[in-house]
Amino acid sequence: MSTPAPDTVLHVGGASPYDVVVGHDLAGRLPAILGEGVQRVALLYAGQLGHLAEPIADALVEHYDVLALGLPDGEDAKSAAVANDCWEALGEKGFTRSDVVVTVGGGATTDLGGFVAACWLRGVRVVHVPTTLLGMVDAAVGGKTGVNTGAGKNLVGAFHEPAGVLCDLSTLRSLPREELVAGLGEVVKCGFIADPVILDLVEATDPDELTADSPVLRELVERAIRVKIDVVVEDLKETGGRDGHPGREALNYGHTLAHAIERAEDYRIRHGEAVAIGCVYVAELARATGRIDDALADRHAAVFGRVGLPTTYDGASFEDLHATMKVDKKSRGSQLRFVVLDELARPSILAGPSEADLRTAYAAIGGPA
Ligand code: GLY
Repeated sequence: MSTPAPDTVLHVGGASPYDVVVGHDLAGRLPAILGEGVQRVALLYAGQLGHLAEPIADALVEHYDVLALGLPDGEDAKSAAVANDCWEALGEKGFTRSDVVVTVGGGATTDLGGFVAACWLRGVRVVHVPTTLLGMVDAAVGGKTGVNTGAGKNLVGAFHEPAGVLCDLSTLRSLPREELVAGLGEVVKCGFIADPVILDLVEATDPDELTADSPVLRELVERAIRVKIDVVVEDLKETGGRDGHPGREALNYGHTLAHAIERAEDYRIRHGEAVAIGCVYVAELARATGRIDDALADRHAAVFGRVGLPTTYDGASFEDLHATMKVDKKSRGSQLRFVVLDELARPSILAGPSEADLRTAYAAIGGPA
């Protein structure tokens, strides 16, 4: 039997530093992360994932008074009503400023749990234990938290950095294949905006071998997390980067069209799938505007497609998607903004592209005329 690789500790610097640990069976690390003086821990977990929350609960009950709160699944967790239920439970438990929230679940659980922690007593510590690939490489790192409202996703929220993140790769064993593949959408995105080794690894690996226990998947996870860490350390609140780099906004590569497609599909398409289509779209936009050459543009569909993600879309008219993109919270005034590449791993902003270029790019990904 081979010896398991040691855990990897990725440090996030800045005003509230913390570590992201990648490895296996990490629950035993919780007391060290929580530190002295903690009496109560609220364990917020996705209701469907009780089996993944169990080892975490077992590690906590030895040391703390644990309040376990099962949440609705997926986006249903991200409502002001669910957050309020959690706050009521914290109040009944006498949860103090020195107590801690621990989340176990995917991105929705992380977002809701982080928001609950950000607001309770104006901020208590939170530790995330993401159980999906998307949660590990995106939602759990960087402190974005929030809930949805009738007007749209993530419109109410706060920046609240975690005190630690534990990415236990064993939890990915029970993740449905489509969810793992969807998570790869954000990983490949990181390859294009910052770390081309990610693309080389994907191109050199049989996609069927990208499973929970694959060393290549682990390397991809760690590289994508590093990309995210580098960006959020420079520009936590998405106010802008330096030397022409868009800062945290770069992480929105592909997301402008992706959000519009998610809405057109009534959120039945997975986020990572929409991101893959959105990245191919902005590559076409960069090709149409003369920013990138054919080889780089074509590489987008090739790499996203290789891992099993969609690279074309014909589910909505250009007019419908255009109207939604114009009200995306990332647009400024009525001007559309896209993160595009000037070259591989060199993202920049394309503000106010012409409608003709937007249409050309949409036609190139198969959109109806
Ligand atoms: N999910 C993009 C970000 O954290 O900024």
